[in-house]
Amino acid sequence: MNRDEGKKVYVWNWGARVIHWMIALSFTTAFVTSFYEELLHDHVALGFIFGVMILYRIIWGFIGPRYAQFKNFMLKPSQFIFYFKEKVQNRWRKIPAGHNPASSWYTVWAMVMGTIIVISGLLLYGVQEAKGLLSYLNETHTQYIGILEIIHQYASYIFVAWVFIHITGVLIEQFWHKTHMVFAMITGYKKTEGEDTTVSIPLTIFSFSFIIMGILTYLFIVSSNYNFLTLQKYGNLDYEEIHSVYHEECGDCHKTYPPYILPQKSWKKIMATLDNHRGEEITEANISKVEQQSILKFLLANSAESSTREAAVKMMDSLGKRRPKAITKTPYWRETHKNIPKSVYKSREVKDKSNCFACHKDFEHGNLDDMNIKKSY
Ligand code: HEC
Ligand code: HEC
Repeated sequence: MNRDEGKKVYVWNWGARVIHWMIALSFTTAFVTSFYEELLHDHVALGFIFGVMILYRIIWGFIGPRYAQFKNFMLKPSQFIFYFKEKVQNRWRKIPAGHNPASSWYTVWAMVMGTIIVISGLLLYGVQEAKGLLSYLNETHTQYIGILEIIHQYASYIFVAWVFIHITGVLIEQFWHKTHMVFAMITGYKKTEGEDTTVSIPLTIFSFSFIIMGILTYLFIVSSNYNFLTLQKYGNLDYEEIHSVYHEECGDCHKTYPPYILPQKSWKKIMATLDNHRGEEITEANISKVEQQSILKFLLANSAESSTREAAVKMMDSLGKRRPKAITKTPYWRETHKNIPKSVYKSREVKDKSNCFACHKDFEHGNLDDMNIKKSY
């Protein structure tokens, strides 16, 4: 027997197909970009497309045409078991026009996982990066960064595993059962029996507006680091204005290091050993005692302990009881820079790994935005 004589049904209207591929593509690219710190912006923009599409699919499950509706999903355990039994026993079994039990479960889980990924991502962007709509949460909720990261990451890994199972299932349908399942998501037609899908004009407009919304959100985000979806709560600081003595005296040989990058005890050690400061001898003749005291007070008041910036929070977490004198001796710094070849620090532009300013544009203004990282020399 062969399925080729069978009939074809128009199951997936064009909107459903476009959105299916937009979900697939945005997830894959967001997943890949997540491994690159400096691509955070693109990651977030892609995540927004994914989020908008997931939201659409959930609404579509209630208002869309019959094959898309959740109430027509085959979710009973008995249906699920029967589906796999029949799959093994009868290669040429009849398949449902809409979602089969496996793809019904797949879709529900994808919606649940997708929602978890999007919400945890939005929260992380606000709480950890202090960016976007939820940036105000950064001041009060940094203790949740760890758990949010775990949720966001593991939900994504589960989603990836889920996608592989989905693809395997679809390929088996395509090549073993010959149900045309891969092409169904391209042409809209499945080899089975049932009624063709029709979509009303209002629903077509609805689908169309979501697709446009997804694309526009993406473009809006990638176009600027300073709009309401991407703006970081912390703008650039002007240390000259905030503490002119610090700016002048400690910004003489190098640019000013923002105080939030080290804890109080580290600053105390640095200030107590100015006579041997990275090979330089700084005495009271250079910076008077009063100035030194004023600088120390400023550093202590704005140290890592009192900051909710990502770098400060992670620095404190990584330090435990240790209080090294140099940023580059902290476990956090070593961990975040372990992939940079040693030769880069020797280059003419960088010279020293303590020269953060060469790679982190605006670090002297307190800015450690991922978008400002210069990676190659
Ligand atoms: C006489 C020159 C000079 C002055 C003045 C000076 N520094 Fe430095 N500092 C250096 C040098 C040299 C380095 C090594 C990094 C580099 O070459 O840019 C350094 C590095 C640092 C670092 C990074 C250490 C690390 O790797 O974590 C900090 C923090 C720092 N200085 C703080 C201060 C403070 C605070 C003051 C003011 C009290 C100050 N510096 C004034 C010369 C100076
Ligand atoms: C040679 C260039 C270079 C120098 C010098 C450098 N960094 Fe970085 N830094 C990077 C790069 C590149 C990354 C991103 C690493 C990645 O994505 O794998 C990074 C990441 C970071 C991060 C983590 C950002 C995040 O959001 O996770 C912090 C914090 C940081 N750097 C602080 C510093 C400080 C402070 C200094 C100076 C003591 C410094 N860096 C010196 C290139 C540099």
